[in-house]
Amino acid sequence: MEMFTHGVRLHYVQAGQGVPLLMVHGYPFDHTLWQPQLDGLSDIAQIIAPDLRGFGRSDAPEGAYTMDAQAEDLAALLDVLRIERTVVCGLSMGGYIALAFWKKYALRVRGLILVDTRAGADAPAARQARLDMVEQVKQHGSRPAADAMLPRLLAESTHRSRVDLVEFAHAMMLRQSPAGIIGAQLGMAERPDSTTTLSTITAPTLAVFGAEDVITPAGTEGRLLAEAIPNARLVVLPNAGHLSNLEQPEAFNAAVREFLAPL
Ligand code: MLT
Repeated sequence: MEMFTHGVRLHYVQAGQGVPLLMVHGYPFDHTLWQPQLDGLSDIAQIIAPDLRGFGRSDAPEGAYTMDAQAEDLAALLDVLRIERTVVCGLSMGGYIALAFWKKYALRVRGLILVDTRAGADAPAARQARLDMVEQVKQHGSRPAADAMLPRLLAESTHRSRVDLVEFAHAMMLRQSPAGIIGAQLGMAERPDSTTTLSTITAPTLAVFGAEDVITPAGTEGRLLAEAIPNARLVVLPNAGHLSNLEQPEAFNAAVREFLAPL
């Protein structure tokens, strides 16, 4: 399916029936990141999984994809689907966007699922690393971005025994367009600190982290979310890294199932 917002064509898939569940992928991925949830949760949720601007089969306009602009894209998609309130689930960059969505559209949020993400802005060195990557991608295409992510992305046990998942994740990153990677990096580099927003979150919140996530560690980033958000619960999944939904789909889906039940 596809829709247009601000002249940008956004592709999305839908599956299942039940509580609306908007699934927002991370960088540099696309909606297929959520395949285990599309397969495993469609009996209890109406899942909407877009390709964010710049990724998958969506258009990749020039310029920075700010978290606010991406939250506006999601609100426009919900309008097209006539969904007023939804659970928003975002992984990593998807979590940054989910927090931006909360700031702009709190009344539309029925619950939040924050996966392997963080509330803070980039430190200066991290921002500079993004700008350096933008230059590399301009010169060499998407491969430097995919190759830089891969070694730190997944748990040690995933790297050792799930070659299929390693290849799946690498291929997903390699097929993203340079324009999309650049737009997302520029947008993330300028994202604001959302730490003070956390105490304003009144929606029920589930934080899910891989125990071996080295990009957004559970012990620091996950704990901060769980402690600062009033009605939050933290679930840490063993043998999972930054893509915990993909690495431990059964445990991930069980946690989401339990969270959605009362909503
Ligand atoms: C992601 O998985 O979305 C990225 O790790 C986010 C980031 O680069 O900060």
